[in-house]
Amino acid sequence: MSTRTNYEKWYEGDAYYWGLEPGDFLEELIKLCPPSADKRVLDIGCGEGKDAVYMAQNGYDVTAFDLTENGIRKTIALAEKRNVYIRAYVDDINTFSTDEQFDIVYSTGTVQYLFEENKKSFFDKLDKITRKNGIVYINVFVEKPFLDLPPDWDMEEKMWKSGELFTYFADWKVERIDEVIFEDNSGGVPHYHCMDTIICRKVTGSIKSNGNGNGFSAKNYVF
Ligand SMILES: C[S@@+](CC[C@H](N)C(=O)[O-])C[C@H]1O[C@@H](n2cnc3c(N)ncnc32)[C@H](O)[C@@H]1O
Repeated sequence: MSTRTNYEKWYEGDAYYWGLEPGDFLEELIKLCPPSADKRVLDIGCGEGKDAVYMAQNGYDVTAFDLTENGIRKTIALAEKRNVYIRAYVDDINTFSTDEQFDIVYSTGTVQYLFEENKKSFFDKLDKITRKNGIVYINVFVEKPFLDLPPDWDMEEKMWKSGELFTYFADWKVERIDEVIFEDNSGGVPHYHCMDTIICRKVTGSIKSNGNGNGFSAKNYVF
């Protein structure tokens, strides 16, 4: 059992630490890459599975991993309760490997557990495992000189520099990037986080104009 993060302990009980409400960003991903039986999703750092299970309920073929055994146990239990199947297993964002490819790869609240020396290989891996025209969603906590470290910050978590995440996706088509500061009450003490988010699409080859000048969208890519 992993003792590297507090989550193993936090996920022990029957209650779902993060609740059961799926992340808002999933609707955006669903619009950008609508589900079908052959569309594959990878959730990196799935926690107790609320997002992974929601994606399976929406018709995707879902794979998910997390460092915690309790998180994976509860992910599988939630999938069973909702009558969907998910491939869920314990793995480490720093060392995971797969020969498979996915249409949507996302990771929320987890990339800060990447060790500095693994950052480049992680993003190279994301490129390799994302199918052509596939979508990647990543968010990460970033440091600001005017914000204190959150009270429940884990020793193994590392704040990123503002904008650093975006530099790894210079060759991708950016669908959305943003940086927001929001208030949080995790750990029972109100505090602020600053978070950078990117949603981007893996475009290979060159995009040709269709000549009718009606804007640039996934629909009028010509590969
Ligand atoms: C803030 S939680 C987010 C969980 C989930 N994505 C969600 O939104 O509900 C961070 C997650 O990262 C996981 N985690 C921490 N270190 C990890 C690592 N090295 N590899 C994979 N997952 C890790 C924790 O167990 C925890 O579930």
